[in-house]
Amino acid sequence: MNNKPGSSILQVNGLNVSYGTFHAVRNVSFEVKAGEIFGLLGPNGAGKTSTLSAVEGLLKPQSGTITVAGFDTAKKPLHAKANMGVQLQATSFQPELTLAEIIKLYAGIYCVELTREKLQNILQDIKLEGSSSKKFKELSGGQQQRVSLVIATIHDPVLVLMDEPTTGLDPQARRQLWERIEAMREKGHGILLTTHSMEEAEAVCDRIAIMDHGNVIAIDTPQVLIDTHRNDQNVISVSRKGKITLEDVFIGLTGRTVRT
Ligand SMILES: Nc1ncnc2c1ncn2[C@@H]1O[C@H](COP(=O)(O)OP(=O)(O)OP(=O)(O)O)[C@@H](O)[C@H]1O
Ligand SMILES: [Mg+2]
Repeated sequence: MNNKPGSSILQVNGLNVSYGTFHAVRNVSFEVKAGEIFGLLGPNGAGKTSTLSAVEGLLKPQSGTITVAGFDTAKKPLHAKANMGVQLQATSFQPELTLAEIIKLYAGIYCVELTREKLQNILQDIKLEGSSSKKFKELSGGQQQRVSLVIATIHDPVLVLMDEPTTGLDPQARRQLWERIEAMREKGHGILLTTHSMEEAEAVCDRIAIMDHGNVIAIDTPQVLIDTHRNDQNVISVSRKGKITLEDVFIGLTGRTVRT
């Protein structure tokens, strides 16, 4: 992989996604650059997974263009897919296969040469070197999460897409995953992730887009979003005392109603 920091890795322009007559993603545009962690935030049903699915080529947009590493996903889907690694919201691998078998299988699918030493390094890297002969179903949720990220990135893709990668992880595993994601950023990958954790978005993401009802309602760095809305009484409740957080801005922009 060879990316200039700041070069464009993903461009989404005027994306619309519909399920039948329901318009789930509405005119969404954003860009992810090399060496950037970009967070998609939004309440349940905002359209985050639908947006990722369109980028991944799992569903066909109604309109709009998506470009991955310079390849239009509609015109050059195979080239675009070769440049992305995908971790889905719920990933499950063949439950009866062992960890080593799964890694070998996916290395084969992605045409990645896997020596015994490289397999060992991968297992060490995700702290599962003692579990290579365990079946996937025998791993804990957090361990499975680590495996799914390693497999998503086994071909060293420039763009890494992760849907709620830290949901269900304990604090240690979450911090470790943050470090792994940050290490990918240092190597020049562009990372697009979704999260419901405002703490995570503030700590890890360089820029975020807040979605609601299919629309992007704000895009910027977490700090700029906080600074922009700090004194806006329409967004931050007047009674709010102390430090203003991204969560205050998020609730202010998207409202307090739980989505049905
Ligand atoms: N296959 C589908 N068929 C019909 N409607 C769908 C389908 N998938 C999603 N939707 C609807 O599209 C909207 C956006 O869903 P999406 O999964 O993109 O939301 P999300 O932002 O990822 O939410 P969450 O935070 O709960 O994961 C929701 O109203 C959802 O009910
Ligand atoms: Mg989702």
